[in-house]
Amino acid sequence: MSQTVLITGGAGFIGSHVANELLAHGYRVRVLDALASQVHGADRKRPCYLHEDVELIRGDIRDADVLDRALNGVVAVYHFVALVGVGQSMYQIEQYTSVNNLGTAMLLERVAKKRIRKLIVASSMSVYGEGLYELPSGEICTTAGRTVEQLRCHEWEMKTSGGQVLRPLPTPEWKTPALASIYALSKFDQEQMCLITGRAYGVPTVALRFFNVYGPNQALSNPYTGVLAIFASRLLNNQRPMIFEDGAQLRDFVSVYDVARACRLALESDAADVAVNIGSGETITIRQIAERLAAVLDKDVEPEITGNYRVGDIRHCYPDISLAKKVLGYSPAVTLELGLEDLAAWLSEQQAHDNFQEMQAELAGRGLVV
Ligand code: UD1
Repeated sequence: MSQTVLITGGAGFIGSHVANELLAHGYRVRVLDALASQVHGADRKRPCYLHEDVELIRGDIRDADVLDRALNGVVAVYHFVALVGVGQSMYQIEQYTSVNNLGTAMLLERVAKKRIRKLIVASSMSVYGEGLYELPSGEICTTAGRTVEQLRCHEWEMKTSGGQVLRPLPTPEWKTPALASIYALSKFDQEQMCLITGRAYGVPTVALRFFNVYGPNQALSNPYTGVLAIFASRLLNNQRPMIFEDGAQLRDFVSVYDVARACRLALESDAADVAVNIGSGETITIRQIAERLAAVLDKDVEPEITGNYRVGDIRHCYPDISLAKKVLGYSPAVTLELGLEDLAAWLSEQQAHDNFQEMQAELAGRGLVV
């Protein structure tokens, strides 16, 4: 008989793809999800992209009865429930801490009493803050950062006190965390709470630190999601993508199909008690991704370099994925070219409300965009 796996937050973008991946490999999938209106719209209906074989329990992870029902008879748990807006977390501090941190605590008190095969928690690149850098002397720097004065002068790159520019490097898991937002702090708490509890109670636990995940079912009208979804909704509305800083920020955009596979490998491999980067291994600038997306969508629209900046934004961060290859047997299969084509095919059937101006105004009103 097939085994049942619980995905908390499994009606969201990444979780729904993990559900497909697990169903395709013979598992039964149960999802616990509150269907938050910011993601699922005001009517909070079961999303049509959620596979029909998924058993959906609609409810809040902080509700003990709902949680007990969700955990009944499962062999493994993916913990994906989280509020995910970096900027929003800086003013909805109580709400983010409640759902992300307290929600995880409620889950772990129950998981600790169960014999489950694996606990997998969605973590994030955000725990690193700035990525790893190299000083002009060749020394490694794990603590790079920018001052507000520097940003005001539009000096975007990391510099030494003598003004020399630091070179970005792929970021490995051992880089010291630098938590720049309430969201990042809550993601670090989620992964550490899971790892600590897993270690104490003998539950094999894996934290996956996702980089910039993209693909079909991304929440396009949620202006607090990642940059690619924001650019996509701008372009679908024939608006120019608005680029903060100068567009040379480096990121790793990883296909949600690769992420879903990594999630299954985390369940099926022997990996335990470890935090692992999940990316594509390809690096690209924000300006280039805006141009590539416009090209696949066949839009003759140039991005606009605004020279504004968001407080707390990271200049460069992209992963070293060698640990994922080693402990999960993960290797990315979807190139950016293929991934963007697939995204474009999905986007061409979507309507997106472009909320960029509202997000900009909301953050600017709080001094978080300058
Ligand atoms: C952040 C989080 C990540 C989270 C993701 C989506 C950090 C370090 N990482 O990623 O965990 O999954 O948000 O919530 O906190 N940009 C523009 N124009 C826009 C929007 C963004 O130029 O309209 C730029 C930003 O200034 C930034 C880059 O694009 O330099 C990436 O932005 P975004 O995807 O929001 O943030 P990340 O730092 O990549």
